Amino acid sequence: MPIVTSTEMFKKAYEGHYAIGAFNVNNMEIIQGITEAAAEVRSPLILQVSAGARKYAKHVYLMKLVEAAEADTGLPICLHLDHGDSFELCKSCIDGGFTSVMIDGSKHSFEENVALTKQVVAYAHDHGVVVEAELGRLAGIEDAVNVKAEDSSYTRPEEVEEFVSRTGCDSLAIAIGTSHGAFKFKPGTKPQLRLDILEEVEKRLPGFPIVLHGASSVIPKYVDIINANGGKLVDALGVPEDQLRQAASMAVCKINIDSDLRLAMTAGIRETMAKEPEAFDPRKYLAPGRDNIHELVKAKIVNVLGSDGKA
Ligand code: G3H
Ligand code: 13P
Ligand code: ZN
Repeated sequence: MPIVTSTEMFKKAYEGHYAIGAFNVNNMEIIQGITEAAAEVRSPLILQVSAGARKYAKHVYLMKLVEAAEADTGLPICLHLDHGDSFELCKSCIDGGFTSVMIDGSKHSFEENVALTKQVVAYAHDHGVVVEAELGRLAGIEDAVNVKAEDSSYTRPEEVEEFVSRTGCDSLAIAIGTSHGAFKFKPGTKPQLRLDILEEVEKRLPGFPIVLHGASSVIPKYVDIINANGGKLVDALGVPEDQLRQAASMAVCKINIDSDLRLAMTAGIRETMAKEPEAFDPRKYLAPGRDNIHELVKAKIVNVLGSDGKA
């Protein structure tokens, strides 16, 4: 099966009340850990690449690695640009074989966001590629951009119908209280997503796939391993898994996970280096990182996303 768009995946996920995991990738071990776990539990997958990851690994390497993962597992895999910030970047990924792009115009005014998204949709649809857009603004860190909590804003449900009908986008990322990175909520507070906003959006856009960014749970097990082996991740806090499960049973069809992968990989490396300080063969410490990613992704698919057995 060639690399696919997310159209079919989202249709089935919406109807089946589950979500597809969209995992950020930037090297071979991460791609292998994710795809081998998904193959074990027969789950469709979205692998996503940020502008920073594309710069780090180069487009052609990521493309070939994802093609290799598809050939190795036979899974339906969608290759997606995460947080594209310009028409040119989206065009370059479309021309280079990605099957899905995100144009993130959330930092612009409503009208500018509509205009930019429309331009990307026109080019993408001409090339058989689907487009994710964003309304509302998440807090946290993406690449070098740090959106402060006070500059973030929830999605306004009253804007979503007009935005989707005017842009023709295929899915919509909304802001309901998640944020990027490992420090999502104040320590001592009880994290609570605004599922009421999601419900309102779902009423206004029946059948339309919604995307949740910043959805890592910041698994304590990996944070603890990192801290026990020289790390200093104090007050890391993520999205409770039961709230993600609830969102997946509603209109959320795509759940973005990057920070949890970073933590799992780093925990494997730190633990190995601490146990075997003499190790200098990268395979010695990258393999445990890859194993942690495998374990993490399998648990996400089965316990949170509910996409096991759907490939
Ligand atoms: O949403 C952002 C992702 O976590 C990607 O992060 O831009 O540092 O690669 P990055
Ligand atoms: P996390 O930082 O919660 O993993 O979010 C990742 C993300 O939204 C990528 O677009
Ligand atoms: Zn994101």
